[in-house]
Amino acid sequence: METVLSGMRPTGNLHLGNYYGAARSFVKMQDEYNCYFFIADWHSLTTHPKPEDIQRSARTILAEYLACGIDPEKATIYIQSDVPETIELYLYLNMNCYLGELERVTTFKEKARQQPDNVNAGLLTYPTLMAADILQHRAAKVPVGKDQEQNMEMARRCARRFNNIYGVEFFPEPQNYYFGETAIKVPGLDGTGKMGKSNGNCIYLFEDEKSIRKKVMRAVTDNGPQAMNSPKPEVIQNLFTLMQIVSAKDTYDYFDSKWNDCTLRYGDMKKQLAEDIVQTLAPIRERIIEISSDQEGLDRIARLGAEKARESARKTLNEVRRIIGFKVY
Ligand code: TRP
Repeated sequence: METVLSGMRPTGNLHLGNYYGAARSFVKMQDEYNCYFFIADWHSLTTHPKPEDIQRSARTILAEYLACGIDPEKATIYIQSDVPETIELYLYLNMNCYLGELERVTTFKEKARQQPDNVNAGLLTYPTLMAADILQHRAAKVPVGKDQEQNMEMARRCARRFNNIYGVEFFPEPQNYYFGETAIKVPGLDGTGKMGKSNGNCIYLFEDEKSIRKKVMRAVTDNGPQAMNSPKPEVIQNLFTLMQIVSAKDTYDYFDSKWNDCTLRYGDMKKQLAEDIVQTLAPIRERIIEISSDQEGLDRIARLGAEKARESARKTLNEVRRIIGFKVY
């Protein structure tokens, strides 16, 4: 079975976009691959988060992924900082990465621009840590978005370079994995593009009913259809796309025909859309609450994940130490 690995930065709560864009696909993948899903809390240190937030933010996202259906018996779900083996591999890989190529990574340049007073070495070697995350399990496939392609290129380079330097065929080159059909792009509520927390246009999985309804009722619209069968402007299309995702086909068709004969009232459509989002999220929200209320259970799951991940990393690291010329314990 091929190994797949995915890393999530613990930056806030999951929203509908994360659910349809990734989480649901992870749940499917755990039956088809040897999956490692981990929470990249070391990577989040580049911005110096408060100590009291570190555990909580990792726990929050762990609970939410579990609520989406990731099964710790099928997949290995763990927190990056629970696997110290990663750092040793990170050190070795750093010896084979060059300043010039790390400086050319777009995400580094962007971050350096965003935080000019904190251009730390961790930021520079972010791609090496990511390569260590991946290569420690000798993962074949990594689901990533467009923004991670350069980091993936660095991970492949790390693998190739290690193999070349030591004349071995040890690390496979990890390939980008695209979800394809199972992933759905969810539009935001402000009429502009994708749902994303930085855009403030999203509905969170744990969000309560009242707040969901309020957000949907406030979603951006226009003056209504002006002519029969006219094309929908983006703000309106977005509402219809959301409806396509969460509502029954009949419901969608009903409002679509209302649009086409110019009798659509956005208020009615939004009310229905809000109702269907509430219904879709209700079971997930319940599970988030249930899982988060059992911190001991969460501890157990994190421990189990860490054990499995460490065992896999240890095996790789022993080989790496032997190849480099170090003693193996
Ligand atoms: N860099 C990824 C992101 O920002 C998170 C990440 C860290 C990751 N390590 C990884 C993703 C390893 C895939 C594989 O989203």
